Amino acid sequence: MHSGKLITFEGLDGCGKSTQLEKANDWLSEKGFTVQTTREPGGTVIGQQIRNILLNPEHEELQPESELLLYLADRIQHLQESILPEIAAGKIVLCDRFHDSTVAYQGYGRGLDLISIESIVEHCIKPYAPDLTILLNISPETVAARLNRRQEHAEKDRLDSESLSFFTRVAQGFEELSAAEPERFVCLNGEQEIEVIHQEIIDAFQQRLRIT
Ligand code: TYD
Repeated sequence: MHSGKLITFEGLDGCGKSTQLEKANDWLSEKGFTVQTTREPGGTVIGQQIRNILLNPEHEELQPESELLLYLADRIQHLQESILPEIAAGKIVLCDRFHDSTVAYQGYGRGLDLISIESIVEHCIKPYAPDLTILLNISPETVAARLNRRQEHAEKDRLDSESLSFFTRVAQGFEELSAAEPERFVCLNGEQEIEVIHQEIIDAFQQRLRIT
């Protein structure tokens, strides 16, 4: 049996993570790996309910600290209920967003002091750090253009209404996180062609995780 792994995909809204995650899933599955794809928020039945609270555009009264704790609750549920058992069963878990998103969005974007959640993170999340994190970088201006397109299709959620300066701070957060842990992160230019990015992700799997 293969050893299980957690690979996370991160980046600004509209960076193309979900497309790349699906293509990575196809590639790994063709290679014979057992893959589980999932996402945050919303990777479990309970998490799906948390997701509905978090992303509902009508929830304007949601407090930043409440938002932060809901993301953590979703993640702890997700880890214990599905990610950890799947890794233990030898699966490669591909997760669309994980804890880096909380640091980038709630910490840098909203400006929350994450000290208050440190002991929860230390005990419940840090021990299960991803084996690899694919970060797709796009400019905050590209986010605005892509979200406008989503808006035309009436798919906007609560976070899609954030400002350019919000996404600039979030991008700064991802940049600092990836600089602090270069062995975990693979930073790719998300403005390239889909197939080019896909090939770079496969290269990273092969070089960093020895997946061949
Ligand atoms: P989603 O529709 O899944 O967007 P995307 O496809 O861009 O990932 O919505 C997830 C939103 O939640 C996204 O705007 C980022 C935000 N988010 C946080 O703010 N903090 C977090 O910890 C996570 C996991 C997501």
